[in-house]
Amino acid sequence: MQESSRLKILIIGKGGREHALALKAKQSPLVKKVFIAPGNIGMKDVGELVDIDETDIKALSVFAKKEKIDLTIVGPESSLSLGVVDEFEQNNLSIFGPSRQAAQIETSKDFAKKLMKKYNIPTASYKSVESLNDGLDFLKTQKIPIVIKEDGLKAGKGVSVCFSFDEAKKALENAFNIEQNKVLIEEYLEGIEFSIIALVHEDKVMSLEIAQDYKRAYDGHKGENTGGMGAYSRVDIISEDIINEAKKKILEPLALGMNEDKIPFSGFLYAGVMATKEGVKTIEFNARFGDPEAQILLPRLKSDLIYSILELKKGNVTELDWDKDYVLGVVMASKNYPKTPEINKEIIFSKSEKSSKSKQSIKSQIYYMGVGQKDNKLISKGGRILTLVAKASSIEKARDIVYEDLKNITCEGSFYRKDIGF
Ligand code: AMP
Ligand code: GLY
Repeated sequence: MQESSRLKILIIGKGGREHALALKAKQSPLVKKVFIAPGNIGMKDVGELVDIDETDIKALSVFAKKEKIDLTIVGPESSLSLGVVDEFEQNNLSIFGPSRQAAQIETSKDFAKKLMKKYNIPTASYKSVESLNDGLDFLKTQKIPIVIKEDGLKAGKGVSVCFSFDEAKKALENAFNIEQNKVLIEEYLEGIEFSIIALVHEDKVMSLEIAQDYKRAYDGHKGENTGGMGAYSRVDIISEDIINEAKKKILEPLALGMNEDKIPFSGFLYAGVMATKEGVKTIEFNARFGDPEAQILLPRLKSDLIYSILELKKGNVTELDWDKDYVLGVVMASKNYPKTPEINKEIIFSKSEKSSKSKQSIKSQIYYMGVGQKDNKLISKGGRILTLVAKASSIEKARDIVYEDLKNITCEGSFYRKDIGF
C-alpha cells in the first residue's frame, strides 16, 4: 500500500485495553500512524500520546478533524456515555463505537433488562426498585443468594452478590444512600461465567473468541467485584455448543433487535454470560471491549483488526484468524483497590539474576493501565496498574511465565491474584 493512502488511527482511552488496541492498530499494514488520547506514559512507544481527556469529546473531535484521522476507536464507556460517537458522526468523522443512546445497554441496567425482555434474550429475573422500602418488601419474598445492582455506570463495581438476607439489606441501604439511585434486585445465577465480545455494526455480528475474566479482588473469588483482576483465553471448559448458543440467543438477537428498533449498535458488544444448567443467561452487556479481556484476546488475533472494522462498517463480515495458543493475563492493582486505591507509588522492575537489564528480563508483554511519571520514574496512577500477559501452548505454561515475571515487578502496597488460570 502506498504510504500516502495508509491510515491514521485514534484510540480513545488510557488503560490496558487501549494499550492493547493501539498495539493491534500499530501492527496493521493499513496503518501509518496511531494516536492515543490521552493514553498513558507506558504506551508512548506504541502511539503518539495526545493530551486530551477521554471525556472531552468536543476537543477529541476537533483534534480528529485537524489531524485528518481516518478511524477512531473508542475504549471506555465514559466517552461513549457522553456521546463521543454522536459528536464525531455529526462532524463526518469515522468512529467505531455505539451512539450515546445505544451505549445505554451498558450505562443503564434497566434499559438493558427491558431490551432483553423485548427480544427474548435469556437473563436472570429481576425487579427494578426506586425506594429502600420497596426494595426491602420485595427482598422478603425472594430466595437467597440474591444480587443487588445499582443502575448507571459503575464499571462492574455497583454489584453485590449477597449470601444472606442481612447482606442484601445492607447492599440496598448503601445503594439508596446515593441520591436518585435506581436499583435492580436480581435472581442469583449459578454456573460458569465467561465473556463473549463481538464486533457489531447494525445487523452484522462478528463474534470474537471467548475469555474468562476474574472479577473479584482476591483469590478464591473473595472480596469485592472489580473491573477484572485477570483473564485468559482459550477457555476449554466452555464447549462450542455453549458458545454458539451465546451467539444465537444473546449477541445476535440484541444487535438485530436494536437495529430494528432504530437504536443500531456499532462497536464492541460485550456480553457477560453465565452457562447455567438451563442454558446460557446474560449477566450484563457492555458497550465496549473488556479490560483485561482486550489484553488477552487481541494477542491471539492473527488477522488485521483494523481491516475487519473498516470492512464491517461497510457491511462486510470478514474472517477472523485466531492463534490456537493460550493467553493469560494477571492484573497488578494498587493497595485498597477497588474501594480507595493508594496511588503515586513507584513501579520498580527488579533485576533478575540472569539479566543485567531490568525490564529485559521480563518475558511477558506489559499492558499499562493506571500509570504516570514523576521525576522520570514510572508511578501508579490508578486502581489497576498494569496487566502482564503471556502466550504459550498451554494455560499452565502461560501462567508460569506471568507469575515468574510478577516477582520482578514491585509497587508498594500493590497486590495481584495468585489463582488466575488455576
Ligand atoms: P456485572 O457488573 O453485572 O457484570 O456484575 C459483576 C459480577 O457480579 C459478574 O461478573 C458476576 O460474577 C456477578 N453477578 C452479577 N449478576 C449476577 C447474577 N445474577 N448471578 C450471579 N452472579 C452475578
Ligand atoms: N473485565 C470486565 C469489563 O471490562 O467490564
